Amino acid sequence: MVSLKSLIFFACVLAVKANFCTKETYGDTSEDYDVLLRPIILLKPDVANLTVTIPKVPECPHGAAGVKALACDDDAWPTIEFKNLTEFNVQRHGDLKTAGHVFIAIHCLKTP
Ligand SMILES: *[C@@H]1O[C@H](CO)[C@@H](O)[C@H](O)[C@H]1NC(C)=O
Ligand SMILES: *[C@@H]1O[C@H](CO)[C@@H](O)[C@H](O)[C@H]1NC(C)=O
Repeated sequence: MVSLKSLIFFACVLAVKANFCTKETYGDTSEDYDVLLRPIILLKPDVANLTVTIPKVPECPHGAAGVKALACDDDAWPTIEFKNLTEFNVQRHGDLKTAGHVFIAIHCLKTP
């Protein structure tokens, strides 16, 4: 089953036309309740490493069960390294001439 939210997630990915995307998950991402966070995080040119902090979202009153991150670049697959549910590191391996993009989907806990 492909959920509508997953489709929205991938539509955004196609919209930026990035060629090299790395997907990584942390925690329990089996719950079919994704919250797509906006704005998409931009990886600025010339910045190889970025630590991303995942904010608390009002749509997830009980907190997150898991997080899905997708990092896209134009010329090389980025590396995603999760520290925990609220922080991960993205590393770019290309020439860094253009911007890259990071997408985050949070899987909410349904009960406290
Ligand atoms: C980026 O991360 C790599 C591997 O974690 C590390 O070797 C490198 O020193 C980092 N660069 C910066 C600028 O933090
Ligand atoms: C997540 O990991 C980072 C880096 O190790 C740490 O600074 C931060 O406090 C951690 N957050 C939580 C909620 O554990």
